[in-house]
Amino acid sequence: MYLPFNHKHILLLILVIGIGCKSDTTTETAKTYPTPYTVTVPAGFPPLEVSASNPLTEEGVLLGKMLYSDSILSTNTRRCTSCHNPIYSYSSPTFTSWAGTKFSVPPHINLGFKKTFNWDGSEESLDTLAMGDFEPEFFNTNPTLLVQKLKAHPVYPDLFNKAFGIADVGQITYTELKRRIANAIAQYLRTRVSANSKFDKYRRKQVLLTQNEYEGYVIFYSEKGDCFHCHSEPLYTDQQYHNNGVSETYTGFDLGRQNITHKDEDKGKFFTPTLRNIELTAPYMHDGRLATLEDVVNFYSEGVSADSYVDPLMTKKNGLRQLNLTPLEKMQLVAFLKTLTDLDYMK
Ligand code: HEC
Ligand code: HEC
Repeated sequence: MYLPFNHKHILLLILVIGIGCKSDTTTETAKTYPTPYTVTVPAGFPPLEVSASNPLTEEGVLLGKMLYSDSILSTNTRRCTSCHNPIYSYSSPTFTSWAGTKFSVPPHINLGFKKTFNWDGSEESLDTLAMGDFEPEFFNTNPTLLVQKLKAHPVYPDLFNKAFGIADVGQITYTELKRRIANAIAQYLRTRVSANSKFDKYRRKQVLLTQNEYEGYVIFYSEKGDCFHCHSEPLYTDQQYHNNGVSETYTGFDLGRQNITHKDEDKGKFFTPTLRNIELTAPYMHDGRLATLEDVVNFYSEGVSADSYVDPLMTKKNGLRQLNLTPLEKMQLVAFLKTLTDLDYMK
């Protein structure tokens, strides 16, 4: 067998591997792939949702990380990060519009703990979610071209092989290829954990809040604002669907969860979005109708719809759906929301 190394090089290689990994005395050829990847789950967080069919591996996570920001998947220069932009906490400052519907782009943060996906929960599995992105309205992927480009790439063939045992991406069906790409991206997304906001540090007694942040925290967690019932710690979502009263009438996307379940009681319900990094992910609500956090707080204070589908939690205070916060209290609530920003996550 021809080897592109002479003996000196092989010795050097073994030496280098030996230095990098002292406890492992075997040579490179004896290493088996893939290597299990462990995510450190922060104290107080629920367990990570990982399916048996797509366990996290070093090679899978690396493959997913590379594909996530690579336009190789599309024919229109788009990549996941075109809309899930890192500087906006993997969200987008403009809503996405297709078929006449506006969608606010959800951030990618702590997705490994989420139980359902998309505003109305139309996706149940993170493992296969990205398979939909290959469609004409998103990536407009050309299957033949995709296989050609992946095969010609300096790194992808090796990673597909190590992560999933796929020796040749040209030898599997297009559906299987999409599934494996989605699997790898899901693995990567599950490693993206955020638990280092100013408020996390406050909880860990590492920092103090300013007076206004503290007052905002009290509003959030007391009957005064009553935000915590739905936006509950540590993920700032109860993983449930609610109608928080942003819509007066319901057609199309505004029907929310009802579009999926076809139950009348689900009208206008959406998955409670996380509030982590909320400062970075404007515009707000499923269709991006509110531009700023001040608009959001004004809405919760005076703008909740009088519609009968609105969640009882929204009317608990006085039956009027009005929090009637003072300008100072509104400012304090916004100041608190900004303590949920985790700049370490953005690095
Ligand atoms: C054209 C913009 C756009 C691109 C490109 C895009 N997305 Fe999205 N993404 C969205 C929008 C809008 C939603 C919300 C859709 C909904 O709720 O129905 C979304 C939702 C998601 C969600 C669910 C998040 C949650 O909290 O429920 C995940 C995960 C996701 N996208 C992953 C990806 C991946 C992976 C890629 C690349 C393969 C990608 N997206 C490319 C716009 C985009
Ligand atoms: C009954 C449950 C519930 C309560 C109580 C509640 N929210 Fe929400 N919140 C939601 C839901 C559901 C959405 C998404 C609604 C939509 O997109 O149409 C949301 C959206 C938001 C958003 C926009 C998130 C984004 O990514 O666009 C912010 C910010 C927010 N809420 C803050 C608050 C604050 C502050 C309070 C307290 C004053 C509060 N919420 C009380 C359920 C609730």
